[in-house]
Amino acid sequence: MKEVLVIYYSQTGQLFDILKNIASTVSDKKVNISYCEIVPRKKFPFPWKQEEFYGAFPETFLQIPAPLEAIPQEILQKNYDLVVLGYTTWYLTPSIPINSFLKSEEAKKILGNTPVVTVSASRNMWIMAQEKMKKLLVSNNANLVGNVALVDRNLNHISVITIVHWLMGGKKTKMLGVFPKPGVSDNDIEAASRFGFPIKKALIQNEYSSLQQDLLDVGAVKVDPSLIATDIRGNVVFTKWANHLIKKEGEERKKWLVFFKYYLLFAIWLIAPIVFVVFLLTYFPMYRKIQRDKAYYSSVALKQD
Ligand SMILES: Cc1cc2nc3c(=O)[nH]c(=O)nc-3n(C[C@H](O)[C@H](O)[C@H](O)COP(=O)(O)O)c2cc1C
Repeated sequence: MKEVLVIYYSQTGQLFDILKNIASTVSDKKVNISYCEIVPRKKFPFPWKQEEFYGAFPETFLQIPAPLEAIPQEILQKNYDLVVLGYTTWYLTPSIPINSFLKSEEAKKILGNTPVVTVSASRNMWIMAQEKMKKLLVSNNANLVGNVALVDRNLNHISVITIVHWLMGGKKTKMLGVFPKPGVSDNDIEAASRFGFPIKKALIQNEYSSLQQDLLDVGAVKVDPSLIATDIRGNVVFTKWANHLIKKEGEERKKWLVFFKYYLLFAIWLIAPIVFVVFLLTYFPMYRKIQRDKAYYSSVALKQD
């Protein structure tokens, strides 16, 4: 019997639905699937209020762990053949609950010397978060063998508008009846079951070397090259903001978080389109580098800094 653990944090259940659909085709007589939800001691609110949403930024981005409920003993006692780690991106970084788990002793126990498939469901900016994830997995001595990254496929700016409606309003519905539904589409959530087949094949054969290519062949990852530069640039600016904000307390912090909110709106609506135009203008001279970047960010390899 092969033992698979699906460990995750999903606030609205979107990511959890995707994980269940993937697991549905991994599961069979020879595969036992266990689920483990990561639960922060202090719950993050859903729907989010503005102050809490922006207030989560400094600790998320600086990857400062928060206390978690203990992982149940029955999960810790087993040895898993494969772990499926489901996470979402917050501020270009794995979410606080997932980062906190990956910095715990329990993660070392569960993930050490174990093949891991990461599954993310973000708006669309997940690439640098996955690079941070690769490093966190290395620090746990885990072996990243596959990655599935699902996103909202609508235009970047449309998805910004609709995600606010969803996360602050609490309902994954069509805003004003005319905008597309936010997040990963119902079709993509349902069709995630196709990723389970290559995962099961690799698990049964205990041979993971071609798993990521097999996952790519069924569309597990689609790197949008125009978002790579925005993600990298965003990380540079966020580093400055987060290091500044973390030093502020009480009313000072609240005041600076309001400035950060306006900066974020400015960055999304004005800087991101400029970065996009620069991307288009340099597309042909940069063509080879873009292809190399696409291949690298679609892979499970980690560049040495
Ligand atoms: C505080 C916060 C920050 C987020 N930042 C990003 C981001 O930087 N990039 C991105 O693609 N999605 C971002 N998202 C969207 C999430 O990745 C995710 O798709 C959404 O929260 C639903 O996930 P769930 O399965 O936990 O409900 C953010 C969400 C939250 C709550």
